[in-house]
Amino acid sequence: MIHIIPKPTDTPDDNSTGAVMRELKKAGTRYEVLNLDTIDPLDSGLEDEVIWACGIRQDGHQFETLNVLSLHNRVVNTPESIVTCASKVMTTALLLANGVRTPDTAYVKSEEMAQKFLRRHGRIIYKPLYGYDGNGIRLVTEPGELGPGPWYLQEYVKNDRDFRIFVLDGEAVGAITRVSDSLTHNIHQGGIGTPVVIDDEMRAVAEASAAAIGIDYCGVDLLRDPEGYTVLEVNGTPNWHCMAAPIPTLLARYLTECEREMRA
Ligand SMILES: Nc1ncnc2c1ncn2[C@@H]1O[C@H](COP(=O)(O)OP(=O)(O)O)[C@@H](O)[C@H]1O
Ligand SMILES: [Mg+2]
Repeated sequence: MIHIIPKPTDTPDDNSTGAVMRELKKAGTRYEVLNLDTIDPLDSGLEDEVIWACGIRQDGHQFETLNVLSLHNRVVNTPESIVTCASKVMTTALLLANGVRTPDTAYVKSEEMAQKFLRRHGRIIYKPLYGYDGNGIRLVTEPGELGPGPWYLQEYVKNDRDFRIFVLDGEAVGAITRVSDSLTHNIHQGGIGTPVVIDDEMRAVAEASAAAIGIDYCGVDLLRDPEGYTVLEVNGTPNWHCMAAPIPTLLARYLTECEREMRA
């Protein structure tokens, strides 16, 4: 039995969880929905089970509950990797520690240091530390535009599109490019996604990013500059909008395999 935590942002028209449940059903794998708001992880009765978090609310209660469940169950993705991906600075630190190319980045509380970073690059990007879907991301070119700290700041990489690579079990299995007229190309910000072929460098950098985090599956966001691809972030509860690859089938197969290993 696979226990599934549905993505809180699913809608009838955009139902990631439902797409994977359909594939599990087709494969004859048993599953049920797990509602984190109606269980006590200290008395859940769940042991040696596979739990799949398609998404979780970014709040203390859901993170803690999932973390406790992971003590006696196989949680996909692991709560630790989901939390790591939620933090842009922790993600950056792991990319750097593993030699994965990422834009020059600073995380500072001192306004003087933030201004120095701005002077060094001229154009920088401010990102909310736990941001997603492009929310709150701004271009900063003047000290007056910094706003309140602390600041997670990144050199601006000139681009007209970005790339999202879906990595599952260490392997890049799908990729899209997203194009828009604005700074952020996220689908939720109006970006148009189109499938692209996974080239060798894209594959290498995306798979290295997933390995740096140590995560079952993820969405890796890239930009391309004259020197090649550079990694913006790794998403621990990724969408697969516009992917040509059959991601729900692949995820269902992976979860079924996790379940089988559990029984072995
Ligand atoms: N350093 C950067 N230079 C230029 N554009 C950026 C940079 N960082 C982010 N962006 C744009 O903002 C989008 C969202 O950034 P990302 O780091 O993926 O955060 P989020 O979690 O909000 O998706 C990117 O897909 C890209 O279009
Ligand atoms: Mg992103």
